[in-house]
Amino acid sequence: MSQKSLIPNIKACVFDAYGTLFDVHSAVGKYDERLGEVADQLSSVWRTKQLEYTWLRSLMKKHVDFWQVTQDGLDYALDVFGITDKPLRDDLIDAYLHLNCYPEVPDTLAKLKDGGRQIAILSNGSPAMLEAVVKSSGLEDLVQTILSVEMVGVFKPDPAVYQLAVDRLGVAAAEIVFMSANAWDAVGATAFGLRVAWINRFAQRSERLSFQPDTEIKTLAELPDLLGV
Ligand code: LAC
Repeated sequence: MSQKSLIPNIKACVFDAYGTLFDVHSAVGKYDERLGEVADQLSSVWRTKQLEYTWLRSLMKKHVDFWQVTQDGLDYALDVFGITDKPLRDDLIDAYLHLNCYPEVPDTLAKLKDGGRQIAILSNGSPAMLEAVVKSSGLEDLVQTILSVEMVGVFKPDPAVYQLAVDRLGVAAAEIVFMSANAWDAVGATAFGLRVAWINRFAQRSERLSFQPDTEIKTLAELPDLLGV
């Protein structure tokens, strides 16, 4: 992979939501004390199951929206740790609508927008989930377009999802840069034909899936320089 190479001629910056703009572990983080020592493990099982269910449902052709999948993943994780506290379950799922954005997000989006780039989200999230989390993070004036997989009824990394960006933004694939901290999502967008920056926040290894994103950076703060903004 060519690390930190300039990606020129970009008109639209399209961001994955969960893990990329928003910290999925901040939901459990709010209830650390009530969860005790299993908090981090529970958050990890929740996220893993949530994603597995997206891939499985897409393969099974039995789509339900991400709000349902997120609840199913949480219920699985609570079961793993023998937690039956219904009010805690309700607080955790509600917290998914109010996740923290990563600290560099507002400034980075503002710089890109001031630099004339379109700003969009392309996510598995349902429209209501995405609108809620964008609003609660105060990003509603920075994010111009929210694209949800509900528009095509299948989850990432189905190519139909990445095609949404091309169809709805009116920009050629080669002029769109897609950012994801989920390595498999970065690979999916690359395989489709978008330009891709993998935000390797968690120092993960590269996926062995035949396609390598254009570039790899640690946080979104490196993006404006990378795009020449
Ligand atoms: C999303 C998942 C991949 O926001 O985090 O689409």
